[in-house]
Amino acid sequence: MIDPKVPSINLRPSDYVIIGGTGDLALRKIFPALFWRYLDGQITSDYRMAAAARREMSRADFAAMLRPFCEDAFGTGGASEDDWNGFLDLLSVITLDVSSGEGGDHLAAFISERSDPARPTIFYLAIAPSLFGDATRLLKANGLVTPQARLVVEKPLGHDGTSSRAINAELAEIFDESQIYRIDHYLGKETVQNLMALRFANVIFESLWNNNHIDHVQITVAETVGVDGRAGYYDRYGAIRDMVQNHLLQLVCLVAMEPPSFFDADQVRDEKLRVLRAIRPLTAADIQCGQYQEYTQELGEASDTETFVAMKLAIDNWRWAGVPFYIRTGKKLARRASEIVITFKQRPHDIFERNGGGAIDSPPNRLIIRLQPSEGLRLQLISKEPGPGGMRLFPSELNLSFDDTFESRLPDAYERLLMDTARGNQTLFMRRDEVFAAWDIIDPVMALIADRTPHLYRSGTMGPADELLGTDGRIWVDPHD
Ligand code: BG6
Repeated sequence: MIDPKVPSINLRPSDYVIIGGTGDLALRKIFPALFWRYLDGQITSDYRMAAAARREMSRADFAAMLRPFCEDAFGTGGASEDDWNGFLDLLSVITLDVSSGEGGDHLAAFISERSDPARPTIFYLAIAPSLFGDATRLLKANGLVTPQARLVVEKPLGHDGTSSRAINAELAEIFDESQIYRIDHYLGKETVQNLMALRFANVIFESLWNNNHIDHVQITVAETVGVDGRAGYYDRYGAIRDMVQNHLLQLVCLVAMEPPSFFDADQVRDEKLRVLRAIRPLTAADIQCGQYQEYTQELGEASDTETFVAMKLAIDNWRWAGVPFYIRTGKKLARRASEIVITFKQRPHDIFERNGGGAIDSPPNRLIIRLQPSEGLRLQLISKEPGPGGMRLFPSELNLSFDDTFESRLPDAYERLLMDTARGNQTLFMRRDEVFAAWDIIDPVMALIADRTPHLYRSGTMGPADELLGTDGRIWVDPHD
């Protein structure tokens, strides 16, 4: 067993201001993540946190509202009431109306009370993007846009390339790109980062990682949930904008990118950008959309929004020419599982064929990277069945389960990302040009499917995309439990 707890690198006590501090994102993700970091001793008593919200609220009321979202920390994390009270001591609640600017002076007063003026101040905009302009102007008007200030924003950063450029231009009027942290929470997932370790800290895979050896790549992000409670948002976005434009394209980038010279924010992002720019424009035949049968009933009206999509991507460069990347994601599928499957080419020649080994029908080698749940790696190989009586072969698996290898829990993506904002490390955040390049791929896709009606699929299946691979003589490798 390995205990992955390591000393904090380059962290200095910081102030976190969550604007929209009583909203869903803040309660479900941001504050619980900060509490876990506090429990692990990474957030120390010299940090400060503020929940800034329009509604006036006492700290006790805020704490009562937040508590149910932190129950995990009390259960598996073993948090005590003392821990909770210690965490709350670092927390302030500030009344702030971003639209009218009212309360900006309270926020400025909170910031000015810090012990060290050079400490980082992280402003997390957990509010609708339509309020980003007001929020950044409010920060500026109150003298809070200092060199130590960092701004965290999250998708949806626009509905298409044009609106994304408008939102980002608004941010850029006030903050420098080096101060802006655009969250794609998939990049904060442990296994997603491990993908970079797997590729660039080992030689054995990297030497095979190209079109000489790889037949094709599949990326599946399957969810069992529907659009419960978010139908209003979801129906305007759909699976392509909600998941592919960001999470799935980022995964494609990490699988396909060239090794950067250093694990440095700009070098990593330069390489990812090159991948995005090398993706060939899709044709209608490369896209398969679906909608789960109950969707319109849940929504209460007719809709052609896709709740499932599969796409075939081609990456036009020397490494990947001729290697299709099939990606799919959807709601209400058979299981919640995200996997990357690298299928290697078949053996060029089979020496066992005539010995009755049956190897000729055996599956190719596959590397399966399970992102969630039950994070781990599996390498599918062909082995000899033990015992005398000829050379019988069977598919076997080398299985590296991170659950079994590491002693402590794998932290939630937000924990890692929040601490990176305090560290000033932008490696796992999207740069503006990456976001635009992703929209440049997605905008034409949306135009191609504009007049299509998605295929209906039954909940609990893996969606209607068999044909996309079938025409290439391939099949999906479905995640199993
Ligand atoms: C979000 C999407 O970005 O990611 C949701 O808006 C989706 O629709 C979610 O459910 C999936 O995240 P995770 O971490 O549960 O895989």
